[in-house]
Amino acid sequence: MKVSLLLSQFCFAGLISAAFVDPLPAPRNVTWGNSGSITFADKPDLHVDGASNDVLLQAFERMWTTVTDLKWIPYSVAANITHGSVSQKKLSNITVSLSDEKSDLQLGVSETYTLDVTEDAVVIEADTVWGALHAFTTLQQLFIYNKESQNYYIENPVSIWDEPLYQHRGIMLDTGRNFLSKGKIMQQIEVMALCKLNVLHWHMVDTQSWAIEIKTYPEMIKDAYSDRESFSQEDILDIIQYGKTHGVRIVPEVDLPGHANSGWKRVDPSIVACGNTFWADTAVEPGPGQLDISSNKTIQVVKNVYKELSKLFPDNVFHIGADELQATCWNTSSGILDWYKSHPASPSKGSGFIQLLQYWVDMMYPFFTKSKRITTWQDFITDGVNVPKDTIIQTWNGGASSTKNLTSSGYDVIVSTADFLYLDCGYGGFVTNDPRYLDLAKNDEFNEGAGGSWCNPYKTWQRIYNYDFADGLTEEENKRVLGAEVALWSEQVDSTVVTQKLWPRAAALAESTWSGNKDDKGDYRAYYFTQRINEFREYLVEMGVDASPLVPKMCVKYPHTCDFYKDPLELNKWNTTTAA
Ligand SMILES: *[C@@H]1O[C@H](CO)[C@@H](O)[C@H](O)[C@H]1NC(C)=O
Ligand SMILES: *[C@@H]1O[C@H](CO)[C@@H](O)[C@H](O)[C@H]1NC(C)=O
Ligand SMILES: *[C@@H]1O[C@H](CO)[C@@H](O)[C@H](O)[C@H]1NC(C)=O
Ligand SMILES: *[C@@H]1O[C@H](CO)[C@@H](O)[C@H](O)[C@H]1NC(C)=O
Ligand SMILES: *[C@@H]1O[C@H](CO)[C@@H](O)[C@H](O)[C@H]1NC(C)=O
Ligand SMILES: *[C@@H]1O[C@H](CO)[C@@H](O)[C@H](O)[C@H]1NC(C)=O
Ligand SMILES: *[C@@H]1O[C@H](CO)[C@@H](O)[C@H](O)[C@H]1NC(C)=O
Repeated sequence: MKVSLLLSQFCFAGLISAAFVDPLPAPRNVTWGNSGSITFADKPDLHVDGASNDVLLQAFERMWTTVTDLKWIPYSVAANITHGSVSQKKLSNITVSLSDEKSDLQLGVSETYTLDVTEDAVVIEADTVWGALHAFTTLQQLFIYNKESQNYYIENPVSIWDEPLYQHRGIMLDTGRNFLSKGKIMQQIEVMALCKLNVLHWHMVDTQSWAIEIKTYPEMIKDAYSDRESFSQEDILDIIQYGKTHGVRIVPEVDLPGHANSGWKRVDPSIVACGNTFWADTAVEPGPGQLDISSNKTIQVVKNVYKELSKLFPDNVFHIGADELQATCWNTSSGILDWYKSHPASPSKGSGFIQLLQYWVDMMYPFFTKSKRITTWQDFITDGVNVPKDTIIQTWNGGASSTKNLTSSGYDVIVSTADFLYLDCGYGGFVTNDPRYLDLAKNDEFNEGAGGSWCNPYKTWQRIYNYDFADGLTEEENKRVLGAEVALWSEQVDSTVVTQKLWPRAAALAESTWSGNKDDKGDYRAYYFTQRINEFREYLVEMGVDASPLVPKMCVKYPHTCDFYKDPLELNKWNTTTAA
């Protein structure tokens, strides 16, 4: 990333014991003092300059409860027999000043904060409550439990200035292919907040199931997998509220007009094309289905569903999908074939298929944007459809080259390059009755190489962290990168495994979007991040979050004992070209 970073000094050996605590994500600018540790008496008092605020008070309680429940000592600290003297200086006050108490949690809201821990006070300054929440999650990770005196200390005075590089730092969860419980979604929000991810992109429905309550069309939720596996609007509001108290925006997605069958067909089977075909003839995966947008009935139903959901979700952004439209599916609809007849292919307008997509965009985008800013997957643009420039485009194909093309043509972009940021990859294929697992001679690739998952291999945290997703952009283009998201599509994910598949890998994106994957000299800093993510994972497990182990615990306890090379700057010597 060609971004200039203010270096956190504790990255470098030299400063005394400051190497012990290493919050994730690394703040933009950290200055450690060396006058010795600061002990906290009992629960500190919170003083808020200005109107106090429920979100802030709850975040403070959450921080202190976690600190006292966990009694955390980082593994590398516990292992260091030389660490030691704890001062008698006791603090009991935390002061928070906000200059803008009103700003809502929306795209682009200020998240800046400063955190000063001195021998006299802990002072947090932030524009907004959302910035102050980040100060708390940093502070929370600085406390170390002292077994002897049974209280908590921070190793040295410290001064932090912090602000994200990118305003959109997200995770995409999919409750269409498999269901995720409300509790599991909330748990992911807790971890997101801890590592300063601020957007949960909720891919709510897909062809396979429709688990959300729509009051205008109560029949839609009959396509939930079961009554248990569904979200009432009350559940949805609970999730939104939980997100808000954690500083996490909930951006809903209803994929339109593709990936659509369940739910819609309950309203009227005629508004869905190819829903009853064999999937391999009409879709990229089971199950098939796209809205038949040649019919006015379809348009009316879509408008009603959108109207209801856009009122339910307070976020100013709504994701309307536009993923993977298939011409073969629409060709099974007589209405669409008639539409094609009256819109013959032409060199200027393209095929009937492209014209139909253009008709949809021209008719629907002005309607959608009456109430929200919209995000779509990049597919329409790849197909050659003209999409209005104020649409936010989410990439998944074409790597850094896509990002370059889109930002240079004026779009704001969210990067989700499948080759780097899709967390569902690498678990093998899921389609069944598949002879490719039998006929080994013909399918060596399938069994030995790629191994049946379309986006193989599994994306390790190192692949995610080292991805220079803004490589090759001008400063102007980089401004159009709103941020990035890891995506966890749920063909093989439900409540039982979502946590292990997300964490701690998603924390790699949390840092690369917050303070970058390189230092201010442009050097890769994965060497330093290694200990942060290793300790972060242990911290999560202690919190009751089933994050996956990344290494034998020896590597956590004794930092850098598991490095492939000794040189912290080894990565810089290698060809870092990011393939598309
Ligand atoms: C152990 O603590 C000493 C003294 O505080 C410090 O200099 C050293 O870097 C620490 N070692 C590790 C591995 O953190
Ligand atoms: C970052 O820290 C350095 C060293 O203390 C300081 O000189 C600089 O002003 C800080 N930058 C910001 C933006 O706080
Ligand atoms: C805590 O802050 C309050 C209000 O600023 C002040 O009156 C009090 O003296 C402080 N207490 C300590 C122990 O510093
Ligand atoms: C469908 O709606 C369009 C645009 O409002 C209108 O021009 C057309 O006549 C309608 N078709 C039918 C069959 O009602
Ligand atoms: C769909 O039908 C149109 C019109 O008959 C035809 O031109 C086109 O090739 C078909 N597309 C596919 C993918 O079958
Ligand atoms: C980006 O644009 C260039 C030039 O038009 C084109 O060759 C390339 O295929 C595009 N890349 C992607 C991923 O769309
Ligand atoms: C780095 O790798 C890319 C892609 O394989 C290649 O085009 C380029 O020439 C390599 N650069 C160097 C300096 O080896």
